Amino acid sequence: APGAEHWVPEGAGIAELRRAARDCEGCDLYQDATQTVFGEGPADARLFMVGEQPGDVEDREGEPFVGPAGRLLDQALADAGIDRDRIYLTNAVKHFKFTWSERSGRRLHKKPGRTETVACRPWLTAELAAVAPALVVALGATAAQSLMGPDFRVSAQRGECFDLDLGGEPCAFLATVHPSSVIRLQGADRDEALAAFTADLRKAAAKAG
Ligand code: URA
Ligand code: SF4
Repeated sequence: APGAEHWVPEGAGIAELRRAARDCEGCDLYQDATQTVFGEGPADARLFMVGEQPGDVEDREGEPFVGPAGRLLDQALADAGIDRDRIYLTNAVKHFKFTWSERSGRRLHKKPGRTETVACRPWLTAELAAVAPALVVALGATAAQSLMGPDFRVSAQRGECFDLDLGGEPCAFLATVHPSSVIRLQGADRDEALAAFTADLRKAAAKAG
């Protein structure tokens, strides 16, 4: 696969990037997905959050984190005192990867591979260059490894602050879990995971100022 480079306009702002991303064919995922789901939020946001890829709802609506994972994220953001309208929210991969379930006839999320993450990364780095945030928060391993390399371990390194330098303005970086990992749990485990997720976001808010 050629990767997204060919479609990314150099030095572009967020609006121009979003427009250009509609036509991306940098990997195979555009073929079966409904549309590109680009990042959303103010271009001068201090806090920049990166998920994995759009889910089923996001694929149909064209916006990041508007399905079940988004609802969990909204709750954690509110509890952490973060105004969602003031952060830039995007994904490591901009098209929905799925398989059809023969049993239910529904589309089932498939984790993007390293090939797709690397192919799509030029969009993410262009968004980062355009927004120039104070802090990047990776939600889960796909986002963390896209930015920090495949050896990054969210389980061991969550909540720690790192430097992120992708050749532009250096900024701070912090990884936490993906909200979907909290949704999958129940009872006390879920309460505990949500509290830890919220604590990481609170740390991020303090760091971003
Ligand atoms: N999960 C993600 O990682 N991103 C979304 O936009 C929705 C669900
Ligand atoms: Fe382009 Fe990313 Fe979509 Fe692949 S997933 S086609 S690289 S926008």
